Amino acid sequence: MSTRDEQLRKDAQEAVEKHKELVQKDPYRLNYHIMPPVGLLNDPNGFIQWKGIYHMFYQWMPFHTGHGAKFWGHYTSNDLVHWQEERTALTPSEWYEKNGCYSGSAIAHNDQLYLFYTGNVKDEKGERESYQVMATSKDGIHFEKQGVVVQLPEGYTAHFRDPKVWQQNGKWYMVVGTQNHQQQGRVAILQSDNLTDWKHLGDVTGAHTKQLDAFGYMWECPDLFHLDGKEVLVVSPQGLQKEGDKYENVYQSGYFVGDVDYSTGEMQHGAFHELDQGFEFYAPQTTEDEHGRRILVGWMGVPDQNEEAHPTVQYKWIHTLTLPRVLTLKEEKLYQNPVEELSSLRGKETIHQQVRIQTQEISLQDVEGDSMELYVQLHSVEADVVEIQFRNHARLIYRPSTGKLTLERKSFVDYQTESRSCTLQNLSTLRIFMDTSSLEIFVNNGEEVFTSRMYPYEENNSVIFGTNGTVLMDVHKWDMGK
Ligand code: FRU
Repeated sequence: MSTRDEQLRKDAQEAVEKHKELVQKDPYRLNYHIMPPVGLLNDPNGFIQWKGIYHMFYQWMPFHTGHGAKFWGHYTSNDLVHWQEERTALTPSEWYEKNGCYSGSAIAHNDQLYLFYTGNVKDEKGERESYQVMATSKDGIHFEKQGVVVQLPEGYTAHFRDPKVWQQNGKWYMVVGTQNHQQQGRVAILQSDNLTDWKHLGDVTGAHTKQLDAFGYMWECPDLFHLDGKEVLVVSPQGLQKEGDKYENVYQSGYFVGDVDYSTGEMQHGAFHELDQGFEFYAPQTTEDEHGRRILVGWMGVPDQNEEAHPTVQYKWIHTLTLPRVLTLKEEKLYQNPVEELSSLRGKETIHQQVRIQTQEISLQDVEGDSMELYVQLHSVEADVVEIQFRNHARLIYRPSTGKLTLERKSFVDYQTESRSCTLQNLSTLRIFMDTSSLEIFVNNGEEVFTSRMYPYEENNSVIFGTNGTVLMDVHKWDMGK
């Protein structure tokens, strides 16, 4: 451990101690999501289950609520629900990472935990350099940096980052998010037999993918995995133009499904699909756990999205991670459902069966609060509109004639109403996780998800169901504890 590392750790700890009380006072502090102890959190990193324990690292700026020379914060859990804060895993202490230990991933090998991440460097002229770095640990808590294992290959600008490493058929592979010299976003793929010598194979979305010639100028945080008989490439492109209801956030996250030839790394794939329909979702990462589940966690935030306007910055912290979601693939479409372990947070249960609402707005007894799981099953909808209002701040609106499902909320920048939509064949179920300042809405058993922050008035805990016609439904509600 270098003196610089010790100093940075000390500084971060001091920042945590200094603002602890203020951070805890924030009414928007969440009850069951991963947050930074102080400062800014962005991408989930190094998500893995190792020796039974789930490890979740995250991009962390301890000193303020903006971006900068990132650390890796660290949480562990036995159940993906209750998380314990651990010693800071990485500090930007070495020359090859002096402007940030940027995003990366974890693997287990030879009884050790390995981290691969991007060392971000800005030289005296402000020019960027990018190094892929390896660190190892025997106990999963203390990490030793082994230095740079990948230098920037030819063909890319220094926007080359976020290595995701995995093993396949006895070989190691790494995908990295990149920008090529034509200012196109791409995913580079590398291969290694020993984790330290890496050979660049090429781009995953190779030359045959003409359709991607104008598909963003940089792709961040790639992830490539096998699921239900296919390969799935998850990536977060920057620079897509809004197209109807698609690509409405500043940057997007989505996936391609196809087949990969691992000798060349090339993927034959279908169209790009967005992973989430909400306002805040970016840079997700997956892992396969010891039960064989492919689990995804995202950052409930988006870069360059008026971050200073989030009211939590007054309390010296910002952002959270999403709940962990199990992925399944059906006919080349990803379905996402919250991990079943979350049911251990369920407190008091309220059930309303065969509720009929007719041209009215109603609240249901005991269906209120700031922290709940809500399950709504729609039996019949004879109406132009059916909607649920959350704490007089966000509204989910379904219009059966067009199949449009819309989430509206009050913007935290100017308090105007803003919306995100997608189109469904029909709406049958909604599983909604509300926390003090977040909503995660799983539609039709994971067919679509809306992930968003919301900052309602503290005293308003109402949930209101409304329609201009007739709706018959069942509603289950559980209070959600810490
Ligand atoms: C995505 C990202 C990554 C980078 C990290 C820096 O949000 O920009 O590409 O590694 O955040 O914090």
